[in-house]
Amino acid sequence: MAKLIGIKKINTAVFISGTGSNLRNLLNFFSKKKTVIQIKLILSSTPKAKGLKYAKVFKVKKKVINYKNKNLAEKEILACLNDNNIKLICLAGFMKVLSYNFIKNFNGKIVNIHPSLLPKYKGLNTHQRAIDKKEKYSGCTVHYVNYKLDSGKIIMQKKIRIKKTDTAKTLSKRILKQEHLLYPKALLKIYPNL
Ligand code: GRF
Repeated sequence: MAKLIGIKKINTAVFISGTGSNLRNLLNFFSKKKTVIQIKLILSSTPKAKGLKYAKVFKVKKKVINYKNKNLAEKEILACLNDNNIKLICLAGFMKVLSYNFIKNFNGKIVNIHPSLLPKYKGLNTHQRAIDKKEKYSGCTVHYVNYKLDSGKIIMQKKIRIKKTDTAKTLSKRILKQEHLLYPKALLKIYPNL
């Protein structure tokens, strides 16, 4: 810890809705190396998200948001981020679209990981769509979140070859491995600008 004295630390929240393998990976990466990104909060849009279990494993606060009313949900999220002095939001399989107003409050401080080579294949079902279009390559992208879905400025990408034998399942498995390498690297890249 001593090494970090005098160095800017960024209080970070990771937003999830599902398995949370990217969350687990970020927690592993940034706790082992005692680095500048400090994950203080795990926020989920559903109590069913498997990734919530990592709160206990890594001793990080968790918060489940009731999304029945989006407006109220976002108000609750903003209050929670404020209470925890959060400066960076990492979306990792978060299945809700954040509103214009929400993003305005955190402009330039929200990043997302997406399983395609953006700008190709925004939205869902990316792997099957890439296979159906007979793409030679796919991959993953870490990007800033702006007002249009999966359209913010790209921070880093990793490209991999699609094999002739690939199914959506095999491709997603290989890309997920690359996501786990890419996300921490991308956060370290933007760190000086945070
Ligand atoms: C990842 O493929 C990510 O790119 C996408 O949702 C998936 C989340 O996986 N946005 P996990 O919950 O991190 O395992």
